Amino acid sequence: MLISKYLVEPRLFATLPPDWRWVFGREAPLEVEIGFGNGEFLAEVASRHPENNYVGFELTLTCIEKAARKFHAAGLTNVRMVRLDGRFGLRELFPDASVRRVIVNFPCPWPKARHAERRLVNEEFARTLAAVLEPGGAFELTTDALFFAEEAKGNLEATGCFDVQGPREIQGEPRTRYERKWRSQGRAIYRLVAEKAAPAKIERIAEGRMPHVRLKTALDKEDIPKVVVGLKEVWPRGAFVVKEAFVAPVGDEVLLRAFATDGDFSQHFFISVSKDRKGWIVQLDSATVPFRTPAVKRAVYAVAEHLQKEGNI
Ligand SMILES: C[S@@+](CC[C@H](N)C(=O)[O-])C[C@H]1O[C@@H](n2cnc3c(N)ncnc32)[C@H](O)[C@@H]1O
Repeated sequence: MLISKYLVEPRLFATLPPDWRWVFGREAPLEVEIGFGNGEFLAEVASRHPENNYVGFELTLTCIEKAARKFHAAGLTNVRMVRLDGRFGLRELFPDASVRRVIVNFPCPWPKARHAERRLVNEEFARTLAAVLEPGGAFELTTDALFFAEEAKGNLEATGCFDVQGPREIQGEPRTRYERKWRSQGRAIYRLVAEKAAPAKIERIAEGRMPHVRLKTALDKEDIPKVVVGLKEVWPRGAFVVKEAFVAPVGDEVLLRAFATDGDFSQHFFISVSKDRKGWIVQLDSATVPFRTPAVKRAVYAVAEHLQKEGNI
């Protein structure tokens, strides 16, 4: 109950980006925090600014639960959480020029060169910021990792869309658990603020429509696994593979477990191949609701094409 009050599941929305006025029940300036950890900063800023709506992205469930307790204890109504990679979330869940401020406190710095692509503020994220921030809106990064802040500055400036201030060393009371931790170890803390001066164009890939295909062929459910397990396609910006199949003991249904990637965003999901009065249909199974990205849609259509081709087996 505590969590459901604050947790938003955007995969269930019929249209993306969602209408945040509807989610919050009011229209107000939107601010976003990515990687909010235990939610300390988000709870504090949302309490101090009841005039704004806040959306936080976080990956770990423990953090989501801790944050929900804080929001509830503070009686907040102007904050929501999404359990999702903030890079994907910021791009897919917010229209252009709709966010006033994006805040990132102590992102995982991934200092090893071989992990560089996992760093949050990459070139694509910088372009996303330039698209979704309002004119004059700002991105604020606070970190103990100076190399990270400098790399972020380079990526932000490369878009040609920002006035970047910093990174500058800052003093003052710690705002988050990680800030307390690093200050207690005597580390310096840096802040970078990038104000949006010009917009950028970005491509969004998730949409609400559920892909489904009716087959014009007869199938024997026992043969379906042989045809589609291992089916795989790889293209420059994505890939999918059908990992395994479960044949229902009763009724005409086969569930396919699949995996798809779009750029650096990966999803597991099920595809259902089932028969009703009109014949066989291939569609996303409702047990897992992925974002309907190009790779997910391609997986559904490829399974259907394959079954159609191998029909009457
Ligand atoms: C080092 S912790 C900092 C937490 C908090 N901001 C603080 O300062 O105490 C980084 C947090 O970011 C989350 N995180 C990492 N990558 C993320 C991503 N791509 N999207 C959303 N959250 C992410 C992690 O789960 C973790 O809780």
